Amino acid sequence: MEFYKTPNAMEPLYPDGEIRLLENLAIELIEKSNRLEGTMNPTTRKAVSEFLRPMNSYYSNLIEGHDTHPIDIAKALKKDYSNDKTKRDLQLEALAHIQLHKAITEEITEIDSAIIPSSSGFLKSIHKRFYDHLPEEFTVVKSKEGIEKHVIPGEFRVDEVEVGRHIGPYSGSLISFMDRFEEFYNPLSNDNKSKIRRIILAAASHHRLAWIHPFLDGNGRVVRLYSDACFLYEKLDSNGLWSISRGLARRNTEYKSKLANADLTRYNDYDGRGNLSNKMLIEFCVFFLETAIDQTDYMYKVLDVENMLSRINAFTDLMVLRKRLRSEARYILEDVFLKGKITKSDVERITNRSEKTAKNITDTLEAMDLLRKTKEGIHVTFYVNYPVNLSPMFFPGIYPGDKESEMIRAV
Ligand SMILES: Nc1ncnc2c1ncn2[C@@H]1O[C@H](COP(=O)(O)OP(=O)(O)O)[C@@H](O)[C@H]1O
Ligand SMILES: [Mg+2]
Repeated sequence: MEFYKTPNAMEPLYPDGEIRLLENLAIELIEKSNRLEGTMNPTTRKAVSEFLRPMNSYYSNLIEGHDTHPIDIAKALKKDYSNDKTKRDLQLEALAHIQLHKAITEEITEIDSAIIPSSSGFLKSIHKRFYDHLPEEFTVVKSKEGIEKHVIPGEFRVDEVEVGRHIGPYSGSLISFMDRFEEFYNPLSNDNKSKIRRIILAAASHHRLAWIHPFLDGNGRVVRLYSDACFLYEKLDSNGLWSISRGLARRNTEYKSKLANADLTRYNDYDGRGNLSNKMLIEFCVFFLETAIDQTDYMYKVLDVENMLSRINAFTDLMVLRKRLRSEARYILEDVFLKGKITKSDVERITNRSEKTAKNITDTLEAMDLLRKTKEGIHVTFYVNYPVNLSPMFFPGIYPGDKESEMIRAV
């Protein structure tokens, strides 16, 4: 068995030759992510992005076959864990991912952030922070020979791995592969001054990191969090309004086959100059960027103001019918969606109800997690909030249809 031992085995690291299509996709992603970000006031945007964090974790874990029901994620966020061990483990995994994604978002968007997404230090810290919070069950892998091995949080593997038909580079050489990865994909390097180039690098590096497979397990989740970090770094994430993992999960079979194709060595002299196929790397990058653009388009439609307002009304009508809300609640929900927050006196004014009745309505909305109350001195302000369990009512289609039907029935 011959292992890859030198980093030139992963060339090309950047697509070679005719890449105008990729450049155009990069430009389209810049435009579409900006357009999406501009659809909302910053306060509502922040609330929606918090609401979407569990979705991001749901889809990244789903790609690995861990299908955690969004209802169970919603419960886990309220520290309500299942008695069923399998379910509880999945809940803990979801929480670990949600918290880590939040931490990464904060540290990359910090003003003086010194994080380089492609650095070994950062990638190891992602892996460590994820695995430190995983239940024991998820830290054991079985080799092909049936030997149990433990994943060490934040450490590169010391064993050899197979990913489909691809055999990862020799474990003893991982440091040199990862050093090369860090240097080549460093957004601050002199060669990477063009934003368009950096976006294409983000796509290419997603495959190359999966190809190196630096960890014994958890590479999929780490690679997708790395991609989240790249988009955050380039400010293409629309402040958290879309997720690459949702797109990859919905095209999971294609995702895996595009990854596998890009593992192949070059076909002939017309297929680039490196060890790996240039053509397949380009195809992977096209797939990756198209998936990203597709997600920004989708979220743009979901978050469209007219659509949102009509869903707010449909939700209120349903709740009125079930005697759980007063009809005036719609004005509050509309207002907080449009403005992000509303004061107590504004609530009384727009509902045209007494202080007592208005309080009744806001109490109910608070209990439904549709408002978040803050108090500063005598001033009470209500902030917009969206809970996972009501997701299909306000943002239909975000989770798979069968899951959403069950969520609607549970409302
Ligand atoms: N043929 C392939 N080449 C490169 N990467 C692959 C290939 N097939 C799958 N992958 C990546 O490997 C991940 C699975 O690796 P693994 O270490 O088990 O991650 P996790 O524990 O997060 O599931 C997939 O999510 C995918 O990103
Ligand atoms: Mg795995």
